[in-house]
Amino acid sequence: KTNKEPYRPQFHFTPEKKWMNDPNGLVYYKGLYHLFYQYYPDDIVWGPMHWGHATSKDLIHWEHQKIALFPDKLGLIFSGSAVVDIKNTSGLGTAENPPMIAIFTYHNMDGEKAGRKDYQTQGLAYSLDEGDTWLKYTGNPIIKNSTQKDFRDPKAFWNSETNLWNLVLVAGDHAQFYTSKNLINWEYQSEFGKNVGAHGGVWECPDIFKLKVGNSNEEKWVLLISINPGAPNGGSGTQYFVGDYDGKRFTTDQKDIKWIDNGSDNYAGVTYNNTPDDKRVFIGWMSNWSYARDTPTKNWRSAMTLPRELSLDKVNNDYVLKNKPVLQLEKQLKNEYSNESMTLTANKKAVINYDNFNQSQVQLASENKDLKMVFSNDAKDSLIIEYNAKQKVFAIDRRHSGLVNFEQSFGKEIHKTAVPNIVSNTVDFQIILDWSSIEIFLNGGVYSFTEQIFPNKPYTKLTILSTEDQELKNISIQYINGIWN
Ligand code: FRU
Repeated sequence: KTNKEPYRPQFHFTPEKKWMNDPNGLVYYKGLYHLFYQYYPDDIVWGPMHWGHATSKDLIHWEHQKIALFPDKLGLIFSGSAVVDIKNTSGLGTAENPPMIAIFTYHNMDGEKAGRKDYQTQGLAYSLDEGDTWLKYTGNPIIKNSTQKDFRDPKAFWNSETNLWNLVLVAGDHAQFYTSKNLINWEYQSEFGKNVGAHGGVWECPDIFKLKVGNSNEEKWVLLISINPGAPNGGSGTQYFVGDYDGKRFTTDQKDIKWIDNGSDNYAGVTYNNTPDDKRVFIGWMSNWSYARDTPTKNWRSAMTLPRELSLDKVNNDYVLKNKPVLQLEKQLKNEYSNESMTLTANKKAVINYDNFNQSQVQLASENKDLKMVFSNDAKDSLIIEYNAKQKVFAIDRRHSGLVNFEQSFGKEIHKTAVPNIVSNTVDFQIILDWSSIEIFLNGGVYSFTEQIFPNKPYTKLTILSTEDQELKNISIQYINGIWN
């Protein structure tokens, strides 16, 4: 189906209609990447949660599938994860036809209304037909609650170092780790986080995985924790910790707070289980709880970020989690403008006109000097991104980018971020716009910034300006083919 309504992203995942929030159950199996998501099929605002479902062969083109999980008497279906139980450790399938298993949070509305604290528990569902239909486990809930008000978002995965299933979930101001032999009976192991990291809001949507550090032999574990509110630009955001994990306990000596994305619209992101090439692929929800229910779309609400490959590196002698769009995106690109280089004269504007920047990728390499880029149109909308080389600050100003008044915080502030990890002589910009979003990656994902925008008309003009003379290299503008045709 082509979805050409105003603001509908053309190469990002969106539900056909109605409300979506967190990505759930990211798992690869038999040639398909599954994407489940928090879904309310009856309205374009949050409501009783289901798991919507889509599948993809390449992480770019998605096929909508039927709803996978419906609320039942134990509660609404909140966020969670999915695995393939290859050895049938759960006994819910057979060795020849291993079950796919989803572990999610049950949110019991009656319990909440009655003022009880134990209204969130963890449930299990399984599929014996490669994810097409799902059965609830009759022994639910599998992880009960001992009066912890917020107790949710389980991420289960196979730990090949300890040969056990592992699970991390969040409990208010900390994460809890569990182990299991069969995905059904879980043993509590440890907790992490009460005195570390950002605590401006409750902890949500954890994930944990191991990555190599750059090209070295060192390996580290990364723990993702979303929080709402308390993000640097207000509302919700996702922090990460780099440390060690022995299958039972996570430890770190990290003192500063690190964010996976410094824009305002990348939340509740988690990574795929069971990927074929061992890549660590992340998808986030491209919105923010501050205004998610107010954005000016009509038939559906919100999109996912582009799937991104995560990697770990050392910059300034510290660990940095990098993220950049998966390479599969390259097949969608159509060269429109590639001008090897351009000389910028101090304080003199250079202008590139283009039919529609709002479905494009813009790339260039600057000289690690000040650089300002303004996307605009003849409806007087302008979206400004600015890199200040001396102060090492990056800013996005969407205050006049289009519709902003649907909610008071959306267009209020310039979003500024300190970028001390820009240490190279050149700064590579990769900027991707898809009608109502902009994703910016600096130096291959050392920093990323993801924001929603609602221009009155597509941007048609790009103005580039610097306070110093400098040479821009590898400038390209590419049209990005839509995925819904
Ligand atoms: C994060 C979150 C999760 C919860 C879900 C409910 O955005 O609040 O913690 O499981 O959304 O829809």
